[in-house]
Amino acid sequence: MHFFSCFVCVQESNMAEPAVRPEGTSGGIVIKDDWPGYGLDLFSYPAHYAGDLDCVFIPHGMIMDRTERLARNIMDDLGDHDIVVLCVLKGGYQFCVDLVDRIKALSRNSNRTIPMRVHFIRLKSYLNDKSTEDLHILGAEDLSFLAGKNVLIVEAIVGTGKTMETLLKYVEAFRPKLIKVAGLLVKRVPHNAACLPDYVGFEIPDRFVVGYALDYNEYFRDLTHICVISKRGKMKYKI
Ligand code: HPA
Ligand code: MG
Repeated sequence: MHFFSCFVCVQESNMAEPAVRPEGTSGGIVIKDDWPGYGLDLFSYPAHYAGDLDCVFIPHGMIMDRTERLARNIMDDLGDHDIVVLCVLKGGYQFCVDLVDRIKALSRNSNRTIPMRVHFIRLKSYLNDKSTEDLHILGAEDLSFLAGKNVLIVEAIVGTGKTMETLLKYVEAFRPKLIKVAGLLVKRVPHNAACLPDYVGFEIPDRFVVGYALDYNEYFRDLTHICVISKRGKMKYKI
């Protein structure tokens, strides 16, 4: 993979700031604000994270089951056309692998198949648990091969939607035929932009989650479940 060969820096636009997105409007499985999660002792997780997590927020099996259904929805919509999957690294790698895997399984077990290409780009805008103003897009040097193609952008998490909006504008400039977005998580945060993924796994409260490739300063990507980081975890891995 040569996704480090290009470095594009995009200043995010200042949008009007509407209130928190109403619960249940994303189309994903709704996890309510008062969901306490599951006790950590009910599942296995790496011992090196003992004390660094509050709870298992979404168990791995649930993620996999939801992903299977998203794959079917994507297949129903994009079934007969070639697609280019645009995986947004690093957080999106696990979701992308599992989603593509399920799409492949549907493809080989039906007469409707989608020839798929996978391309990787990297976005970076977070320090500790806070979003920074600058959105860095790496690996986007030549996306001219997207022209006329169906593009499926695969993201792990959508918060304000600003990142997604900036990315959509960026990708649109390469004139694809169609762009769809799959987001595993949509967070109900203040100042939501209007932009929502077409395929949403889960809609979650405004809490910082880690695991399943989602990180806190590069830690916790090696955690299978999606968990809530503890105060101690935040302190321990702060930079
Ligand atoms: N966890 C990890 N990365 C993120 C999050 C989160 O909750 N929100 C935006 N990027
Ligand atoms: Mg991150």
